Amino acid sequence: MSALGNKKVLLGITGGIAAYKAAELVRLLIKAGAEVRVVMTESAREFVQPLTYQALSGQPVYTDLFDKHADSAMDHIELARWCDLLLVAPASADFLAKLNAGYADNLLLTLCLASKKPLAVAPAMNQQMFANAATHDNLAALATRGVLIWGPAEGDQACGDIGPGRMLEPEQLLALIDEALAPGPLDGVALLLTAGPTREAIDPVRYLSNRSSGKMGFAVAAAAARAGARVTLISGPVALPTPAGVSRTDVESAREMHDAVMARVGDCDIFVACAAVSDYRIANVAGHKLKKDDAPPVLELELNPDILADVSALAQRPFCVGFAAETRDVEKYALDKLERKNLDLIAANFVGSAGRGFEADDNQLEVYWRGGHARIERGPKAAVAKRLIELIAERYTGRHLSTDSDD
Ligand code: PMT
Repeated sequence: MSALGNKKVLLGITGGIAAYKAAELVRLLIKAGAEVRVVMTESAREFVQPLTYQALSGQPVYTDLFDKHADSAMDHIELARWCDLLLVAPASADFLAKLNAGYADNLLLTLCLASKKPLAVAPAMNQQMFANAATHDNLAALATRGVLIWGPAEGDQACGDIGPGRMLEPEQLLALIDEALAPGPLDGVALLLTAGPTREAIDPVRYLSNRSSGKMGFAVAAAAARAGARVTLISGPVALPTPAGVSRTDVESAREMHDAVMARVGDCDIFVACAAVSDYRIANVAGHKLKKDDAPPVLELELNPDILADVSALAQRPFCVGFAAETRDVEKYALDKLERKNLDLIAANFVGSAGRGFEADDNQLEVYWRGGHARIERGPKAAVAKRLIELIAERYTGRHLSTDSDD
């Protein structure tokens, strides 16, 4: 069944010959029951007249940032809030570069910056322009920020070239919009998540930490948001952009992470502990920078609070998911943590070799729950996180269904 009935799609059109295909997309969306508003850039208007989209959508077409007739239509902030999804199709190389750089010098770019709704782009350009490293870098950067990249397809181009760069067909874009707007398995669920390392001060300039980059936790946050969850991410110090639709709080030490989690856990349904939290902190933190001509310092360690164990011990506890980073006997230690920390599910990763686990772009997970196990095969952390979220959603929904039927 289509998810498009009464959904609001804002369609941005940039300059390219594929602008004529966008007219068919508008027609298909309207037929499927969606409301469509069209925004055109100046160069898009060189290819197709706004009147075409106005006739098909039954709505005025928006073209100017400073619309003199704004009282008869919505202003850009209203439009950005109005839609359920913003799709730019066709998206030219120039538009993608400006979007990546954060430009807001026309109405469509301004809307993209001002909207918190899912943003998708359907690139369309000459195959050589698509192959250019600048275009690739722009698309890769947009994807890490959660922008959905749909296409391009390969084939004959209007300029006579053959290769990748054709905009996807209207029917393909319709199917992708339908999928993006379909309710996710975690719709309406509040998910709290920790990610990254913690830092424990030794003196004002030095600290104790670990190799966690935050990539795995951020990928889980992005996948959960895509699955429809309201995601709150508590992150240790990392150099990563916040995934689209995720609300983020940065902390430094394990005690700060503990406080941030405890302040928010009452409002969450699922807690995922992906952070590599320092088990110990320095008891005798130096007030001033330690000098190497002083006697070598003796660092006294004391135990940090165990965030995950404290959450799972709460009387009103969320569904608790832990991670286990192991260098040997992965299954034995993971099952031990599942029991000892009273978890609903644990995702164990082998961190003893390069290429997966800490810092790497790939991972592989062994996921355990009471009475069950699933392996998530090695792959990019985004793909691994997507599968993990599916497993979490299955277990979480199953637990709730059985609790409901017990009542
Ligand atoms: O960040 P990346 O570079 O992408 O690497 C990802 C990762 C390897 C860090 C990640 O996949 C992972 O395994 N995270 C958990 C690492 C860890 O600290 O494991 P642990 O076995 O020490 O802890 C078990 C669980 O207790 C974890 O869920 C941890 O978040 C939690 N914990 C641990 C100690 C503590 N004081 N508080 C906690 O909440």
